[in-house]
Parts: sequence; structure tokens; C-alpha cells
Amino acid sequence: MRIITAALPYANGPLHLGHIRSTYLPADIYKRFSNLFGVKALYVCASDEHGTPIALEAQKQGKSPEELSSFYHKMQEEDFSKLNISFDIFHSTHSKENEELTLFFFEKLKEKGLIYKKNVLQYYCEELERFMPDRYVVGTCPYCKAENQYADQCEACGKTLKAGELISPKCIITGKPPKLKESSHYFFKLTALKEELSNFIERGNFQEEVKNYVRDWLAKLMDWDIVRDFDWGIRVPNTNQVFYVWFDAPIGYISSLKALTKNWKEYWNSSEVIHFIGKDIIYHHYLFWPAMLLGVSFNLPSSIPVRGYLTLEGQKFSKSRGWYITLREFLEIFPADYLRYYMTSITPYSLTDANFSLAEFKEKINNELISNYGNLINRLKLASGLELVDPSNSFKEEALGLVNDYEEVMNSFRFKEGLEITMKIIKEANSILSKEEPWKLEKTERAKTMGKVVYLSLIGSILLYPFIPSSSKKALSILNFKLLEEFEREGKNIDFSSLKTPERINTPFPLFKRVEEKEVLKLKELLSKRSKR
Ligand code: 2FM
Ligand code: ZN
Repeated sequence: MRIITAALPYANGPLHLGHIRSTYLPADIYKRFSNLFGVKALYVCASDEHGTPIALEAQKQGKSPEELSSFYHKMQEEDFSKLNISFDIFHSTHSKENEELTLFFFEKLKEKGLIYKKNVLQYYCEELERFMPDRYVVGTCPYCKAENQYADQCEACGKTLKAGELISPKCIITGKPPKLKESSHYFFKLTALKEELSNFIERGNFQEEVKNYVRDWLAKLMDWDIVRDFDWGIRVPNTNQVFYVWFDAPIGYISSLKALTKNWKEYWNSSEVIHFIGKDIIYHHYLFWPAMLLGVSFNLPSSIPVRGYLTLEGQKFSKSRGWYITLREFLEIFPADYLRYYMTSITPYSLTDANFSLAEFKEKINNELISNYGNLINRLKLASGLELVDPSNSFKEEALGLVNDYEEVMNSFRFKEGLEITMKIIKEANSILSKEEPWKLEKTERAKTMGKVVYLSLIGSILLYPFIPSSSKKALSILNFKLLEEFEREGKNIDFSSLKTPERINTPFPLFKRVEEKEVLKLKELLSKRSKR
């Protein structure tokens, strides 16, 4: 079995196009592909509900963190389902399962001697009489001198910062300079696991470019402060503190599985676990999380595919500058499959960033997806009334070779290539139509030509299922292929070598509607208005 996860989204705002590219969509493609090729897969996700970003946003909106995070949890869940993301569960880190498991991890690590206490200096606001963790203090970065940076990390140069390092720090609530005050914190002795972590990285089947980063970090590995003097999160026993959000968040992967099935432990420990993430959280998934799993003797992930960021019309997504399009806004205008197709076609399996361009989106949907695939399915009208002839084995061989190539690239997370291979099959079917011109042929010859075209359409439509599931299902209903749901559910292997052209097909109907310039303009205007505000 496979357990597939995608980085848990913070429940502090609506999902936008940038969110889905590296994680939720690739993970969904992989889940659907796995089930189609004989490996039962569960797709587990949750919202990440703790931490200062949520508490801060709640304060801004005059809500409690709990109100805010459950509001966005629901909204994100709805949006994911509009995009046809096939989670088996979308749980929450603010759940009883996650609290229990977080305490289990903590106690277990303590038992193993991997946790110790140490006094550390923390920012403290005298006016509010409380500690101000992470994002509650801003100031100038001591390294690159960027202003208005959070106390835990400089977004301009990426350096992690300790309390006391910021120049001219200010409490973001009162605007006053905070004091430094001692607090006793629990630390996780990561350094004791250095060798095991290094083995995990070196032996693992991970992207070389990722390994290089991780090796560098491993050389400078330090123990990890796992608590915060704060009140929103999972309480640390016998203290006024909560666990650092990055301690309980990844545990959310397992606790969500626990909420899904009582066999969670056995499933986790006997499955291939695969985490899809973006490149900003490599450290957490290649070092912190495996160390936690090693500490409690749980199964380690077998793959952690990483992809880069998305820019929008050449610029970084930015909530504060209004430079974003939400998933909801996009899906109100265009079908989910259009977005899924376009995103996959621009996303290589690497850390390279990609750019979302509305003009290119329109071009690819109209001139690639619709011109090739939509047109092909429409032209299957030429098969109506015919008793189709199943093509020869030698004809099938070439297509089956491409199915093998597809399986190989998809197994190694190269989904863009998988899509390209599928489009080759579609193009081949179209070229048979143009070469053999079946409309000019008499019935027996037409049944042979259309037999080949329908065969390739069938294979192509099955292989398109992970990418554009709803259109693929429509096409498969036209093609009389009834078994999809069974494969989807059971993770049975479709035996491609014994696939036959159906004798008859149903009357084709248009799968797609062309993207209109006025629809694209709507989104462009929305973007331009919002970013000028
Ligand atoms: O970076 C983020 O958006 C985090 N919420 C991801 C958490 S992933 C996991 F480990 F829980
Ligand atoms: Zn900096």
C-alpha cells in the first residue's frame, strides 16, 4: 500500500493557484495513477491549524484562532473538492488524534533521552506581560539589513534568527521594544541522530539537488527548540507553553490516518509513505520529521518529492500586494480539468520555479487539450453505427510501449512527461484519422480504421485519468469502458495488454468548451484591480 500526503496547508486564508502546484495536484495525480496501476493508495491531508500565523490572522480579523482556522478549514476543503482532489481524509491538526499522538511522540522521545530542558532568552513585552514568539516581533535583519522582518526568520535572505538578533525589534501589538527574558524550553537532541539521518539521506531515493541542500544543513545540524511561550497550539504538559507548530504539524500526517482507519499504525509502518512538498519546507521534511520518526521507531518516508514555486504573470504571489488569484475565483470561470492540465504541463519534477500565464493557459487549453483530445473524441462520431474491429497485435505493440514508458515516468514522479507521452498517443490517433480519411472509406474499411482510432482513444483516456479525471471519465463512458471505478477503488492493475476495442461506442458529445478571451480578461481585471488597492 501507499500512503500519500501533501504538505498540510495553514488554515489562515483561501487557497490560491500558487498553493496547488507543488503539492496537492501532484499528490492527487500520483494517487490516481497508483490506484490505476495496481497499488492501493490512500491520500491523507489535514489543515495545519496551530502556530503564530493563524493566531495573528485571527487577531487581525477579530476572531479566536479556533474560529478562524475552522472557517478556513471548511473553505479549503470545499475548494480542494472543486479541484477534484481525491483526499481519503482532510483532517485537522487541532484534533484529539493529533493531540494524543503529539504527546505520545514527546513522551517517547523523552524516554529515549532525546529531549532535554534548557534556558533560552525570549522576547517579552512588558506592557502585555507576555512572551512574544516568532512573528509577534519585527525588526531589521542583522545579516542583510532588510527591514520589517519577523523575529524567527528573515524572508529577504532566508536566515533563521534567534531572539535578540533583530536590530530595533518591536512588538507588533504595542509597537514597543520587547525585553529579553529567560524561559525554560524543551529541546529535541537532533545532533544525537546525525548519523542515522545521514544514512537516511544517502541511502534514500531522493532528488540529487535536494540531497545537496540537506547534506549542507546536516553538517551544521543543531538541537531543536520544540516549544513556544504561547497559548495557541498543543499544550506541553506541566508548563504554560505549547509545542512549536512544526513539531505537531507533521504528526498530523499520522493522526489523520488514525482518524481515517483503526489500522493506522500497521498501515503507516508497512506502507510506502510519500510526502509531496514545496521547496520551502525541505528542512522540516528531510531532517526534523525523519528524526522524530526515528526517535519513536516509526516507518520513514520512502520518497519526498519536491517542486519549486509558481509565479503569476512573472511576479511572486503576494497576499499583501494583492498579487494572487484564488482557487475559487479561477474555478468559478474555468473547469478544474483545465487548471489541472495546464499546471501539470508547466511543472517539471525539479526545484525550478514555473510561471502561470493566463495567455499561455488559454493557448494550451485551446490549442493542445481541445484541438487534440477534444477534437479526437468528437471525431469518434465516425464510429457510430459501426461494428469496430480490434486492431492487430503488432499495431497495439507501439501503444503498449508508450504505456510502459508512461508507467516508468509516473512512478518516478515525472508527471509532466507522463502527460506528454499520453498526448503522443492522442496525436497518433488524430494522425490516423487524417491519413486514412475514414469518411471516404466504405464500411468494412472504416470499421478497421475506426477500430484503431478508438483503441488509441481508450488507452489515451485511461492514461489521462490522473490528470483530468472528470473529462477522462466522460470520454470513457463514450468508449464503453465501465471498469474505471473498480480500479480506482481497489487499486487493481488494468491489464493493458488485453485491452480491446469495444465493439460499439456511445454517441460522442463535446468534452470541452474553448477558453474565451473575455473569460481571461475577467481574471486579468480582477488581478489588476486588487493589486492597485
Ligand atoms: O509551510 C506550510 O504551509 C506548513 N503548513 C506545512 C506543514 S506540512 C506538515 F509537515 F505538516
Ligand atoms: Zn536577512
